[in-house]
Amino acid sequence: MFSLVAASQGQDERCHTRHPTTPHDIGLPLRLPTAAWGEPQVAANDALRQAARCYNMTDQNLVLLRRQYLQLFEPDFISWPPPALLRNDDVQTWLFRHLFDPVRNPVLPPAQYQRLVLDNLVRRIVKATGDRSAVQSRLAALFAKLQDHCKDQPNQSLPSQIEAYITFTCLVSPAAPDTEGDHDDPTITLLERRNRVIGSNFTGFRTWEGCMHLATYLLTAAGQEHIRGKRVLELGAGTGFLSILCGQYLGAEQVLATDGDEQVIEALRENVSLNRPRAQDGSETRLVAGGESPISARMLRWGEELEGTWLQEEFSHERYDVVLGADITYDKDAVVLLAFTIKELLQLQPHLEVIIAGVVRKADSFELFLSECKRYGFIITEVDFAAKLMREQKALFYAAAMPLRILSVRGPAVDGA
Ligand SMILES: C[S@@+](CC[C@H](N)C(=O)[O-])C[C@H]1O[C@@H](n2cnc3c(N)ncnc32)[C@H](O)[C@@H]1O
Repeated sequence: MFSLVAASQGQDERCHTRHPTTPHDIGLPLRLPTAAWGEPQVAANDALRQAARCYNMTDQNLVLLRRQYLQLFEPDFISWPPPALLRNDDVQTWLFRHLFDPVRNPVLPPAQYQRLVLDNLVRRIVKATGDRSAVQSRLAALFAKLQDHCKDQPNQSLPSQIEAYITFTCLVSPAAPDTEGDHDDPTITLLERRNRVIGSNFTGFRTWEGCMHLATYLLTAAGQEHIRGKRVLELGAGTGFLSILCGQYLGAEQVLATDGDEQVIEALRENVSLNRPRAQDGSETRLVAGGESPISARMLRWGEELEGTWLQEEFSHERYDVVLGADITYDKDAVVLLAFTIKELLQLQPHLEVIIAGVVRKADSFELFLSECKRYGFIITEVDFAAKLMREQKALFYAAAMPLRILSVRGPAVDGA
């Protein structure tokens, strides 16, 4: 009998126990009787626990692939499962069910991207087995169908160039014990129109690295402290990822997503609707169940005085706690306007904490933002949070090659800030 674990973890002697592999064994989540964990002295349970540990280790290869695939990760950077795993027929069943089956996965990547990934997988399976016929018939049939479907589309239809649903996995830390390694990860799905971003000023139709970095921090226990039970305002919210994250998974009481572009706001509202918590249907794992979304969206252009505006009116009724902004410090003209808006916000609500994160693409823009903040007398603290290397990331995948920074900005008039 084939040992899935021995194949995948060939170096690890502990994992050479042979146990049955059925599609159900490999299909996540692996659920063991609770009692097996509570009685370590029982040999049978030891074996069960060892098997579970090994399966979980194996499952991580597949879980990681699925998360990267749903985020439309460039195929060149995907962590492909090892050849020994791909030789297992049950793994192919798992791949079909969790990556390509439209019945099990209501929101799948676009056909061009599915074809790219399946092409890669098929080639890897053939290489691993040395046998073309080892590719399961439904994977082969799907591949032929996708080839046919995409034959008139340009080869370069990569995620960076198309309109697509992108699903981000949001692992809230610490992970709930029974969701570790589960295929029903907490997720946010966004419709991104990256084709509209290239060569244009419309940067709000995709989600950027600074946003991924700030989200990764906010998902940590320390990061959650800034958001749980708080009222949050986001500046330059773009696709709305951060706002949805705060409202959906981080326990914000209320979130107001703003952006200076009307079309971006329209798209953002669609994304909020797309992620509106649904009733539990057995396959949905949402931390916020049912009810109305706490997230709303409105236009807010930086650089304008807030007195007499809808925002001043809003602030007169509601005490906001946190302002977030990700990847909004890339343009020299814009950062001057942004610092002015932060000053206006802090004048209306002096206790606000403003958290600004970004990739430092242009050092001079970032430096100008800092000097504008200093000119207004803001108190700036750098948040000590380093991005993991891409190959070490488990979810929310983003390039960490360029410097990524998170700043906490406070107004000058706050006692004890
Ligand atoms: C690079 S995108 C970042 C989007 C999102 N925060 C993210 O990180 O994915 C910059 C966003 O700032 C918005 N923006 C640019 N200039 C602005 C301005 N003067 N006022 C308000 N929003 C602006 C853009 O419309 C866009 O959505």
